[in-house]
Amino acid sequence: MKELIIRKCNHCKAIVRVLEDCNCKCGIICCDEEMKIVKANSTDGAVEKHVPTYEINGDEIIITVNHVMEEDHFIEWISAITDKEEITKYFKPGELPKLKCKYTPNMTLYAYCNKHGLWKKEVEK
Ligand SMILES: [Fe+2]
Repeated sequence: MKELIIRKCNHCKAIVRVLEDCNCKCGIICCDEEMKIVKANSTDGAVEKHVPTYEINGDEIIITVNHVMEEDHFIEWISAITDKEEITKYFKPGELPKLKCKYTPNMTLYAYCNKHGLWKKEVEK
């Protein structure tokens, strides 16, 4: 299963998706400090409101998150990733956090809440 690597600056709150992480000791720097890896499923947010759920219909997967979509608290994006591709859909408050795409075995699903961070679910089939 491929892992999504996200790093966040604890000062300015910038977030970057890392395609290939730093293998030396310098790290990825923002505001003069190393950006920290954002761990999935690690905040105090309610699991059932953040972990993506899915339904597989033939060769299609429908991914949703049972979360509010308010102005100050919402799911910013959902990603479905495999070893070969990453599919990401971005959302605004008021929109339905739902991603429909081609199903591929060994998918890992991610959702990002603007308040509660990164959440992950591995597709079982
Ligand atoms: Fe949240």
